[in-house]
Amino acid sequence: MRIPILAANWKMNLSRREAKNLVEDLLKVAFPVSQREVVLCPSTHLLTEVGALIEGKANYGLGGQNLYFKESGAFTGEVSATMLRDCGCSHVLIGHSERRAYFHESDKDCYLKVEAAMQQNLIPILCMGESLEQREAGKTKEVVLGQLSGALKGQSLSSGEKLVIAYEPIWAIGTGKTDTPEGADGTISVIRQELGNLFGERIAQQVRLLYGGSVNAANVDALMACPNIDGALVGGASLKAESFARIVNYQTQASLAN
Ligand code: PGA
Repeated sequence: MRIPILAANWKMNLSRREAKNLVEDLLKVAFPVSQREVVLCPSTHLLTEVGALIEGKANYGLGGQNLYFKESGAFTGEVSATMLRDCGCSHVLIGHSERRAYFHESDKDCYLKVEAAMQQNLIPILCMGESLEQREAGKTKEVVLGQLSGALKGQSLSSGEKLVIAYEPIWAIGTGKTDTPEGADGTISVIRQELGNLFGERIAQQVRLLYGGSVNAANVDALMACPNIDGALVGGASLKAESFARIVNYQTQASLAN
């Protein structure tokens, strides 16, 4: 069984004080049952502090938003996988569309970053997704599968639990437009099929596949009801304790019946 992950991507937001208030509020209202994991991905300057606030909280993990694939050295401004581990991270976002667009990250960069993360026992949350133009040209699958194999083909993966993938259509990020649950589920099932080709069926069935792109308190239940969607990567709605707590505490048919 794949345990759902609700991941918060705070991007370049929040002061130390704001982050502290947010986490404290969140911990009061978001009670992930044992069958859910929450991963907070703050900016690098907040990692140690947020890590201390969630330390010992069952099912809470800490993630970096990026890394550089070298372990150390003269790379001004960068942070390595070892350093993220040193801050207490269990996860790291790799290949977010904002990094691909603004910092020109290629699939090859993503490959090296995924490899570096895995070598340090960090779980990569590899992000991928198509632009509006690509979608309108009917190229969604082609684009996503290209990003998938570019970052993963040739990696050695002993267990699918060591990898998370977030499908985030670029046109849905921060726009208030979400893919339909069926549409997102369909693309995600294609990703899982391709993971089967790359790593075998057993591993493909273990990898958690998240949807991201304007996930909020109002649409999370329908998205999480889809069979192939194992969680959400949330930007804007993760910056408020109330909305992110509602996402963490998403309702399933089973929980509604109780
Ligand atoms: P959004 O961002 O939820 O604000 O659309 C998601 C993301 O960029 O990961």
